[in-house]
Amino acid sequence: MKLLLASRNTHKAQELAELLPGITFVLWPPGAPEIPEDGTFFQDNALQKATFALAWWKQHGPEPIEGVLADDSGLCVDALWGGPGVLSARFAPELDYPTKNRKLLAMIPLDAPRTARFVCVLALAPMASPPFTVGAAVEGILALNHRGSNGFGYDPIFIPHGYEQTFGELPSDIKHTLSHRGRAARALKVRLEA
Ligand code: IMP
Repeated sequence: MKLLLASRNTHKAQELAELLPGITFVLWPPGAPEIPEDGTFFQDNALQKATFALAWWKQHGPEPIEGVLADDSGLCVDALWGGPGVLSARFAPELDYPTKNRKLLAMIPLDAPRTARFVCVLALAPMASPPFTVGAAVEGILALNHRGSNGFGYDPIFIPHGYEQTFGELPSDIKHTLSHRGRAARALKVRLEA
């Protein structure tokens, strides 16, 4: 199956390629427009990205595809009332991730709960049938410091429940078995096989 991936995030693309080895991904081309994401919920944004990219590809796409896959994801921190959440990619955009992660940790009051979760919604828009979504989360706590250099984004400050290392310290195969994206990808596989 050949799907267009509605994202310029190379880390997501790599993880999705590892998680869905039966799918050949076509990457969103460099000259194509920015994909909008102005919804309130992860699900809105995932559907918006997939349907926008599908409409654009139908007009301009240089090769046949069977549909579009979009991923909207983020880190929801209880002490920040669920933030940065859907705005995770837009939190402190001027900072690199180590600095951004330190800034986020500094925003958590010392006596506040450190519980958090990563959420991922995948939207699949097939060429000729309505789009659908699958989603998943992984629960955990925020580390006291940025730790590890595996993964990307907020991985070095997130410790999944049942572990002591952050996603930045755990190898990618362990992250895949636990993560929001890994769980959503497995739910997508089940939908595609049904
Ligand atoms: P969006 O889905 O493009 O709006 O952005 C998702 C953002 O959430 C990413 O740019 C990261 O900052 C964060 N994020 C999503 N998934 C992960 C993950 O698996 N690890 C670390 N950060 C993530």
